[in-house]
Amino acid sequence: MKIFLDTADLAEIRRAADANLIDGVTTNPSLMMKAAGGRDPLDVFLDICRTVDGPVSAEVVAVDKDTMIAEGRRLAEIHDNIVVKVPLTEDGLRACRALRAEGIRVNVTLCFSVAQAHLAAKAGATFISPFVGRIDDVSGDGMELISQIRQVYDNYGFDTEILAASIRHPQHVVQSLLLGADIATMPPKVLFQLLRHPLTDTGLAAFLADWKKLEKEL
Ligand code: E4P
Repeated sequence: MKIFLDTADLAEIRRAADANLIDGVTTNPSLMMKAAGGRDPLDVFLDICRTVDGPVSAEVVAVDKDTMIAEGRRLAEIHDNIVVKVPLTEDGLRACRALRAEGIRVNVTLCFSVAQAHLAAKAGATFISPFVGRIDDVSGDGMELISQIRQVYDNYGFDTEILAASIRHPQHVVQSLLLGADIATMPPKVLFQLLRHPLTDTGLAAFLADWKKLEKEL
């Protein structure tokens, strides 16, 4: 499964990319608002694309099809890594189809049902982003949605990749792996939580302590 970092924070992206832990990046307007620090978002997207060798999702902020398409084209011109993110609305799916016809990759975002995911795949979405954490937040079952989309896409041979989004904790990532999601996008905190295990820390401390004893004996 591919791992994307869900942030526009360049320092976090550099850290994860330098460690070869990530295959791409997703952003959204809220993440950009937190991280841009007064910079032009287009410049931030360019810096992210130069840092990560993989897809970088950049979201349109228009709500009508024609402006979404124009915005999508502008975003796609920034760098080959850019994937244009559109919301799962009627206009969003129209824009998705039009941008795909021009060879521009599209991530359809804000997906909360299998019915929506089916329509996005029919519109040619490169990625579908079901928001598992936000479904859990309203007492739903986000991972069940991933499982159902996997089944539908496999039943009908759609090649749209399932990008599990709104990941809140490592168990969401483990479940995404078990259910066959193609990608999980997660905040830096969750990525680094995946690395850690208390038994690794205590085991390493014991090995190093024993090695020091051995060195003293020599
Ligand atoms: C995905 O592309 C979104 O940017 C993100 O995963 C949303 O996560 P949130 O529900 O934690 O805001």
